[in-house]
Amino acid sequence: MSKVDFEAIWGAIPYPAFVFDRRNTILAVNSAGEAFGSTSVRQMLGKPLPAFMGEGSAVEDVVNQARRGEGSVVLHDVEVAWVDRPPRLNNLHASNMSGGEVLLLLHPRGLADKMDRSLTHRSAARSVTGMASMLAHEIRNPLAGINGAAQLLAMNASTEDQELTQLIQDEIKRIGKLVERVEQFGDLRPTPREPVNIHDVLDKAKRSAQAGFAAHARFKEDYDPSLPDVAGDFDQLLQVFQNLFKNAAEAIPQVGGVITIKTAYRPGVRLQIPGQQSESLPLQILITDNGTGVPETLLNDIFDPFVSSKSAGTGLGLSLVSKIIADHGGVIECDSVPGRTVFEILLPIWRDVPSEET
Ligand SMILES: Nc1ncnc2c1ncn2[C@@H]1O[C@H](COP(=O)(O)OP(=O)(O)OP(=O)(O)O)[C@@H](O)[C@H]1O
Ligand SMILES: [Mg+2]
Repeated sequence: MSKVDFEAIWGAIPYPAFVFDRRNTILAVNSAGEAFGSTSVRQMLGKPLPAFMGEGSAVEDVVNQARRGEGSVVLHDVEVAWVDRPPRLNNLHASNMSGGEVLLLLHPRGLADKMDRSLTHRSAARSVTGMASMLAHEIRNPLAGINGAAQLLAMNASTEDQELTQLIQDEIKRIGKLVERVEQFGDLRPTPREPVNIHDVLDKAKRSAQAGFAAHARFKEDYDPSLPDVAGDFDQLLQVFQNLFKNAAEAIPQVGGVITIKTAYRPGVRLQIPGQQSESLPLQILITDNGTGVPETLLNDIFDPFVSSKSAGTGLGLSLVSKIIADHGGVIECDSVPGRTVFEILLPIWRDVPSEET
């Protein structure tokens, strides 16, 4: 058997890993650690831990604790700061090595959480599906009756009363539109899959947005030209981005509003669904706006149906988005603070041969 290349293993560990000596000076950092800190290995080696993660940090505690004991110390959901960057949630694993050295592994919480929550969106969207078509059907018929009656009334009404009949008809139209949107959930046909160039979808959605509801927005693109096709349905994906652009356009100011579209190829991102094969989701699309941000109280529920902060909103936009993305085998997540809202979508790529991966 050939000699094990520990250097290569160290470099291949996908989580940020650090080795500290007994005075908590950094002895080694792997490449994920470099990426985590956006700091080069050379800049980190020989420096004390607090220089990057702060004095008396939870990380320092965990490392000291591991050094005192035997085996390893694990701490979940710890906020890890790096120089002046906002802290990020991580699980920490610290192991005592020989000679007082400690190995520290960071396990970012972001992706695991996103996947958990994304699976919940999937079922939330499904639970609406059953009721939707029934409800839509039940509303459509009486609505047509009311509309007909209002038209009859309007024919003989005074000008004053005509205003009222017009109001009835306008509101009927609004309910009609709502029913139409609800009905889209009831559409249980399997998603037709064909190779779709996501940049074509994004461009089309952007053009129609610019011609209408997002005329006041400035769009910025940062496309990865090597992006492979997604397996999906062009029109459904178009709806996804139209909904996201519409929300962004409604959140940004009339002047100075920017919507950024970024695409990237990130091999190695996988989603594990209980009882199913794991899916590879290497296509990343980020839609960012500099608007008001999602109201904090809604942040956990925006993908649920009928959740809206707008007086004329149905709250179905994002619910439909999450259903379509789920039907495409992808995930969507939102990260929002006032002034910066990011919707991140991960999708599988098109393969014309069935995947051999398990
Ligand atoms: N880019 C964004 N910036 C700020 N808040 C957002 C953004 N996108 C969504 N939201 C919040 O999420 C809520 C739900 O969005 P969703 O698209 O599902 O419904 P809606 O926009 O209110 O209604 P509709 O889509 O029917 O017009 C919104 O009401 C808003 O509070
Ligand atoms: Mg919306």
